[in-house]
Amino acid sequence: MSSAPSATPPTPATGGRPVALVTGPTSGLGRLFAQRLAARGYDLVLVARDETRLKALTDELATTYGVDNEVLVADLVDRDQLKRVEDRLGDEEHPVDLLVNNAGFGLKRRFLNNTVEQEQAHLDILVTAPMRLTHAALGPMTRRHSGGIINISSVAGLQPRGSYSAAKAYVNRFGEWAALEYAPQGVQVMTVLPGFTRTEFHERMDVGRDAVPAPLWLDAERVVDEALADFDAGRTRSVPSKRYKVIAAVSRHAPPRLLQRFQGLGRK
Ligand SMILES: NC(=O)c1ccc[n+]([C@@H]2O[C@H](COP(=O)([O-])OP(=O)(O)OC[C@H]3O[C@@H](n4cnc5c(N)ncnc54)[C@H](OP(=O)(O)O)[C@@H]3O)[C@@H](O)[C@H]2O)c1
Repeated sequence: MSSAPSATPPTPATGGRPVALVTGPTSGLGRLFAQRLAARGYDLVLVARDETRLKALTDELATTYGVDNEVLVADLVDRDQLKRVEDRLGDEEHPVDLLVNNAGFGLKRRFLNNTVEQEQAHLDILVTAPMRLTHAALGPMTRRHSGGIINISSVAGLQPRGSYSAAKAYVNRFGEWAALEYAPQGVQVMTVLPGFTRTEFHERMDVGRDAVPAPLWLDAERVVDEALADFDAGRTRSVPSKRYKVIAAVSRHAPPRLLQRFQGLGRK
């Protein structure tokens, strides 16, 4: 397990403690982002559906790090509930310094074996929610000329792996562009492209760990710590681990038909 980077948080908009809003902090990568950011001195706005787990996390962070937490119970697939999170990001009296768009889920079955409504919800959580939350956050951040946005995408976004990879391809290209567009206005946008990571993601898809060769699994700690180190270094893209840096490079050049043969990895 790698240790947490120890960089100091940015100067907050209010002069008090900086504030980070993290979506999907009840498990996996989001939970670690929340813990690491709390350790760095951030107060947190925690957004997910499971109120019990959100409450347990806020208690833990308050006790361990003295964090002043806010909880927003919201299903980000629901447009009205998503709007409440957008409104929170737009509240210029209580500015958010860092947005981590992390919440997500995958679908085990192939595109045509899902209902179109399942596919729509999948698109909504992976694309619509981060796009709308980024839009809501950028207004106040560009006006203050200060802020950061970390979007959790995937190496899958570089490969033909069904609608999940198509959604993550949007996040990759959106982040690549937004980083260039908003850096001159004081906002750092970074896209994280993890490979297969041990979280609840595959369990929730009803996929076993044996659906992926053991050397391809990453620890969530490593993904989050490398991502935060890359963010500290001012990078706009983070591909945690050497093995996935190689896979990402190969994916950009290999024939799509060859890559498509591996689309069953992580879905069986
Ligand atoms: N694990 C991997 O192999 C892997 C690889 C590449 C990229 N990623 C990406 O990493 C991100 C985090 O996933 P993870 O691996 O940490 O998975 P995870 O352990 O399953 O965590 C997913 C989080 O998203 C939240 N969430 C799911 N649906 C939601 C909804 N409709 N509304 C609000 N929150 C919702 C969950 O909270 P509630 O259930 O409490 O709502 C949970 O906190 C995702 O964007 C995923 O695509 C994962």
